Amino acid sequence: MKNIDSKGHVTGKSIYVDDIPTIQGTGYGVVFDSPKAHGIIKSVDYTKALALTGVINILTHEHIPGENQIGGIFPNEELFASKEVHFQGQPIALIIAESEHIGFKARKLIEIEIEEKEVITDPRVAQQKGQLIFPPRTFSLGSTSDAWNDCDHIFEGKVEINGQEHLYIETQGAYAQPLESGNIKISSSTQGPTVVQRAASKVLNVGMHTIEVDVVRLGGGFGGKEDQATPWAIMAALGAQLLHIPVKVILHRMDDMRMTGKRHPYSADYKIGLAKDLKIKSYEVTFFQNAGAAADLSPAVMERTLFHATNSYFIPNVKATAYSCKTNLPPNTAFRGFGGPQGMFVIESALAEAAEKLGIDRQELQKVNLIIDGDEFPYGQIAEGVGLSKAWSTLESKFNLEAVKSKISAFNKNNDALKKGYALMPITFGISFTKTPMNQARALVHIYSDGTVGISTGAVEMGQGVNTKMLQIAADVFSIPANKIKLESTNTTRVANTSPTAASATADLNGKALEKACNALLERLTKSAANQFKVETSSISLVNEAILIDGSPSEMSWIELVDMAFLERVCLTENGHYATPLINFDKDKEKGHPFAYHVFGLALTEVTLDCIRGTYDFDAVKIVHDFGKSMNPTVDRGQIEGGLVQGIGWMTLEEIRYNEEGRLLSNSLSTYKVPDIYSVPKEVVIEPLDTEGTEMAILKSKAVGEPPLMYGIGAYFAIEHAIKAFNPQYQSTFDAPFTHEKVLTALYS
Ligand code: MTE
Ligand code: HPA
Ligand code: MOS
Repeated sequence: MKNIDSKGHVTGKSIYVDDIPTIQGTGYGVVFDSPKAHGIIKSVDYTKALALTGVINILTHEHIPGENQIGGIFPNEELFASKEVHFQGQPIALIIAESEHIGFKARKLIEIEIEEKEVITDPRVAQQKGQLIFPPRTFSLGSTSDAWNDCDHIFEGKVEINGQEHLYIETQGAYAQPLESGNIKISSSTQGPTVVQRAASKVLNVGMHTIEVDVVRLGGGFGGKEDQATPWAIMAALGAQLLHIPVKVILHRMDDMRMTGKRHPYSADYKIGLAKDLKIKSYEVTFFQNAGAAADLSPAVMERTLFHATNSYFIPNVKATAYSCKTNLPPNTAFRGFGGPQGMFVIESALAEAAEKLGIDRQELQKVNLIIDGDEFPYGQIAEGVGLSKAWSTLESKFNLEAVKSKISAFNKNNDALKKGYALMPITFGISFTKTPMNQARALVHIYSDGTVGISTGAVEMGQGVNTKMLQIAADVFSIPANKIKLESTNTTRVANTSPTAASATADLNGKALEKACNALLERLTKSAANQFKVETSSISLVNEAILIDGSPSEMSWIELVDMAFLERVCLTENGHYATPLINFDKDKEKGHPFAYHVFGLALTEVTLDCIRGTYDFDAVKIVHDFGKSMNPTVDRGQIEGGLVQGIGWMTLEEIRYNEEGRLLSNSLSTYKVPDIYSVPKEVVIEPLDTEGTEMAILKSKAVGEPPLMYGIGAYFAIEHAIKAFNPQYQSTFDAPFTHEKVLTALYS
């Protein structure tokens, strides 16, 4: 099935928050934010701004009827700064005006006085000063301290990883409308409708039942709208509650870039020990997560860094510790991979360092250490259905790895100004929210009396194609065409207590809930048909809108069956509930079985370096990917291509810069470079790994949203490989992203 949104997107007819027709009398919200990264608010003077014609009101912490608090995991983040500011871009007030233009004018008239305090942007400095968001955590297996004695080679080093701007095409925004009896409806560009509803109810001091959150779709989220769609939605709702008018808040791009958190930058120290046969014996790693000024999702992100600290390798002795460091930057947040990519980049760096020092190919080390079935992860789960060795051999044969290698070395012999390099990047990514209770979902299905179907789930469409997959499931169970099915918006009054659309688990969780609901309805309809024809229910099947008896067509159609069941007063509505079985995690022991399953894969990245300019082009990325049994190969390939390019961007071009005062320098698209059509690989080939899939995945079709991002890590090491062909003296620095400037320096260092 084609992505049901393609046509609307291409013709510009798809609806986003800012496309919702505004009601007369709507107020437009503009956020006034802190110009300083840390300090005490001495005074704020709104007089001139309030006097501007067209300004309706300015809301601050003083107007909040409930708690001035939006922290999801820890209550340590104010909606509007009250006494102290902790980052540049921290919201202090919401100007509500008759137009956005007036709002922006008013913002310039606000006078603020801040007594500045020390600004920290470096996570290591924060850690040294004891500024942690929450206590550190350690995952361990075996005993590293004993294992060092058995190692023939030990290497240590440091790794720096920068953050990443989400750059969803649709910026953050919401539109809130007062309904009767004090109820409020919020249309929000959020991955987590319930996250918004819960936080809004706290701030507005009302029950969750009075707040309805509706999401049609997002113009991209990538994790940036899992928690950080919340403040703007609450601000709009607060305006609606206090002023009794609809209020719209849509961030302009530079406001969005300045005010919102990004992928967490990490610093890390590692120590890796190998035996003579190149098996990794011991690995110690310490992560310094740059959390920014508040917790946001940092605890969960940090946890996933620990889960993926050994990537695709079995290591018998591991000690991985992580500190969540409080700095004066916007609170960093979820971003595709959710801490996993950072964990993986560090172990890949450790292997690269070891290979460099031992004078061997990096992939030799990778290959002999791959996880196999029965191996234990440092968090206690035993590896099952591992596809890594098979992916490796498939890649070697399908993409002729040896030929690629000889082609590259021949090229390098014959060229001085251009050098080629390659790298392999295996991935192992755990599927499930690491917080077990979040792994549940519901779906509401109506069959209307004319045989058409309406579906509501907790899944949010953000470009990943989840709505198409939901529609496929219902069409498949009922055996009716897609045009008879409508996918409703995601709405908290139809499906309550949703988990955010995240962790790549949305199609699994909501799809399984939907499948259950559809199957329950199918069973009822089958029973009605069996009664009518006086046969066993097992004789009845529904195929292509026809009712079959023992495989032969009856005179009854799907529409007639539905109509008959309705007249018989059969319930044609069903609510399905799904909770992932088996999974658990004990935080006291840091052991358990947190993931329903793992997704595996392997990528080969080939790059050509211009050694005069320091620029590079990716010739090809060839991937063997574990889809299970893909339920929609086109959508899933789209996810791989998008994830890959986003990962390459993070590792190469995208450079977030803050100055010492905590001011974002890369604050617009002229100073923050993302991959474009010229920088994407010239060739992306994807070969499905031949596997059975798993019952834990919807229709055995494995989650695909985040894992491919980590193929992008191969880009970093392919560049390194090419640099070494030009400059054999080059010593790795493991400082991502590998921008053209850094490459140029490396070529001549
Ligand atoms: N693809 C598109 N086009 N837009 C997005 O915002 N988000 C990614 C991924 N793919 C995203 C995307 C992230 S961060 C996640 S967690 C998954 O989609 C979420 O959707 P899923 O659970 O349905 O895979
Ligand atoms: N992944 C993504 N988002 C999340 C998770 C996770 O594991 N846990 C909480 N939010
Ligand atoms: Mo994705 S980072 O789990 O929204």
